[in-house]
Amino acid sequence: MLIDGHGRRVNYLRVSVTERCNFRCQYCMPEKPFSWVPTEKLLSFDDLFKFIKVAIDEGINKVRITGGEPLLREDLDRFIKLIHDYKPDIDLAITTNGYLLSNVAQKLKDAGLKRLNISLDSLKPAVAAQIAQKNVLSHVLEGIEKALELGLKVKINMVPLKGINDSEILDILEYARERNIQVRYIEYMENIHASSDIKGMHGKEILNIIKSRYTIKKIGRVSNSPSFNYEIVENGYIFGLIDPHKHDFCEDCNRIRLTAEGYLIPCLYFDEAQSIAEAVKANNIDRATTILKDVLANKPKENRWGNEEAENNSHRAFFETGG
Ligand code: 5AD
Ligand code: SF4
Repeated sequence: MLIDGHGRRVNYLRVSVTERCNFRCQYCMPEKPFSWVPTEKLLSFDDLFKFIKVAIDEGINKVRITGGEPLLREDLDRFIKLIHDYKPDIDLAITTNGYLLSNVAQKLKDAGLKRLNISLDSLKPAVAAQIAQKNVLSHVLEGIEKALELGLKVKINMVPLKGINDSEILDILEYARERNIQVRYIEYMENIHASSDIKGMHGKEILNIIKSRYTIKKIGRVSNSPSFNYEIVENGYIFGLIDPHKHDFCEDCNRIRLTAEGYLIPCLYFDEAQSIAEAVKANNIDRATTILKDVLANKPKENRWGNEEAENNSHRAFFETGG
């Protein structure tokens, strides 16, 4: 079992397989970065897998593949299969923008994938195109339908932005409810890579919009999820709110992140990281284990998104860490 320096049990590893993305979401990567990490610096799936094995052996039982956009990386199904075959009962999921999903969903399922989180910020083609800076909606919706058809478990992520998609909070809720999938509203997290003219919505403002139509009841966080769940009393539908600005958000944090280059990151908010790249390339499993334990020992107690003075002081890009 992995325990961090603040006594929290860590059982969840998020693995970013590429920082590249085919969208330019305003809250994440509005412009193509000045330079990408050169391809030769990316860890191969076999090297990433070496670390994942170490992490699983030490107590990780939940792995999520993220990006950038993970479906841009070729042979992703092979990577998923490596992880799945090593520990078939692992909770193995992916976060994707859904654009390329409909064609590969079957392969991913066959490889052992069970769950997907898909970003859906708008149901209006023009608004979706404004946020992602590309005409994306029809492909994303197709991807969602395909995943559901195959029996994969889907959740939807929406980042409400003032004056852009805030009028669609209820529309997205109904879209998800009709399909019996969970929507999770994510508070926009300020970061220096995002477009400077967007403004996020506070969790309370999001809830107030939902309360204008429904009565809602607090459920709480389910097993260390960052999402605080609410039930709609009228119909029993459960939605989530991810509110990292709230002061108790980090109390049960159970996760660490690995980037495509091999940096192990204890907290999304802070710049600290240690590389496991050399260790895995040299097959030095003891070294990789030591780095993992060291990173855990130094995992920060909490983020500072709610801290007024700390405005914009997160330097790490979401497209590097997969959110
Ligand atoms: N704030 C909140 N959520 C973000 N995401 C990416 N950037 C941000 C941000 N700045 C989330 C989106 C997307 C997922 C990959 O990461 O919800 O669905
Ligand atoms: Fe790409 Fe996801 Fe970032 Fe949008 S949020 S630019 S889809 S990595």
